[in-house]
Amino acid sequence: MIIAIDGPAGAGKSTVAKTIAKKLGFLYIDTGAMYRALTLKAIEEGVSSGDTARLIALAANTQIILRNNPDGSLVVFLDGRDVSRLIREPRITQVVSDIARIREVREVMLALQRDLGRKQDAVLDGRDIGTVVFPDADKKFYIDAQFKERVSRRYKELVALGQEVTFEEVDADLKNRDTIDSTRAVAPLKKADDAICVDTTDMTIEEVVATVLKEIKLSGRV
Ligand code: DC
Repeated sequence: MIIAIDGPAGAGKSTVAKTIAKKLGFLYIDTGAMYRALTLKAIEEGVSSGDTARLIALAANTQIILRNNPDGSLVVFLDGRDVSRLIREPRITQVVSDIARIREVREVMLALQRDLGRKQDAVLDGRDIGTVVFPDADKKFYIDAQFKERVSRRYKELVALGQEVTFEEVDADLKNRDTIDSTRAVAPLKKADDAICVDTTDMTIEEVVATVLKEIKLSGRV
């Protein structure tokens, strides 16, 4: 069974996806983490986000492995190295959308994501899961929230991670990524026609999880 969870940054989709996956015993696949891991490698190797040819070659020669801990948390390995924390740093967040807009980079990630999802029941979160990666997903959700609320959540999350960011910086970053992610030519962020939309602005994470779980259970397959 495949559950697709899409939506913009800061809407709460990773927390929901992770919690749902743990409750159902499914694999949790954070597709944004894959783009982030590749972005980290590009930065470390001095490849600029405008150097499309080198980025495509890099994507083809990079091993990205996602593992779920028993507590539901995610571990990301980049060429065998645990980069779970590093990929959340602002230097990654600032350029990841520029790298994720490259068609050939997305093709490499798409193959990886489909491969993982075909092997076992999975919850995938991202921007194009219900529209491109698994258009036949068993259940699709589009998790959204008002812009200011998303900025506020992401800001608190980063502060909790010990990062020194201002509210204004997070606001500018989300604005920028929303624009790039939803206007790019390949697999833009978009609600799939058959996705269930959940506006989480005034909801707690528990309420969102309950809403999503209820819908999944209606399918009678879990
Ligand atoms: O969900 P996130 O913030 O970790 O994602 C980081 C970036 O990766 C996001 O700005 C756009 C890109 N992304 C994408 O293009 N397609 C996906 N399926 C997931 C993420």
